Amino acid sequence: MSEVLGAVRAICEDGLARDASLGEGLRQILYALDGLGDVRSGASQKLDVVERYLGDCRALSRDPLAQRLVTAMDREPERVAWYRSKSYDDEPTMADFLSQYGVALILGPDRFGRRCPYLSDRASLGVTLQAPNVDYPAHAHEAVEIYFILAGSVEWQQGDGVWRRKAPGDLVLHKAHEPHAMRTGEEPLLAMFAWVSDLMSDVYLADPA
Ligand SMILES: [Fe+2]
Repeated sequence: MSEVLGAVRAICEDGLARDASLGEGLRQILYALDGLGDVRSGASQKLDVVERYLGDCRALSRDPLAQRLVTAMDREPERVAWYRSKSYDDEPTMADFLSQYGVALILGPDRFGRRCPYLSDRASLGVTLQAPNVDYPAHAHEAVEIYFILAGSVEWQQGDGVWRRKAPGDLVLHKAHEPHAMRTGEEPLLAMFAWVSDLMSDVYLADPA
């Protein structure tokens, strides 16, 4: 059994026990985990932002389930494929942001010519890393999304709601087309994300709240 997939499963099972509002999405991730084939060799990009901050994130993952996944990613790098995000290639205003942000794919459909280590049409799941002092402006997508904070401290906004601080171990649910924004302070952010519906939908910038 892969340590990475085992750590993802543990996060979902723990989440089911403590937050019923995320049940449908978490069960969809477990359904995806149950349907995976063998790991595939995939390309992975060397990203400056990951080289610079992933080590800091290891030290900042204070939650046991978060630490388990971060440790597993270290031990099984072939099961975690880092890429520069392709979501904003047509948005010149996002060029600087994209240099401060990395996405690691673990399972999902192949998109944009990138191979996920595990192929799935049931969920798209991976990890994002956002450098310190970076604003990820409000954006949205049709896909229903769950986040699990792995490391760092971050402020999070959903819709036009108040900004809330999130810490390792926190779960966040984004409904279809619900705008969300994240801004880091002195610490980087490492977070697990999962799309649990509409896996081929596009990400778009939302109007500022
Ligand atoms: Fe999102």
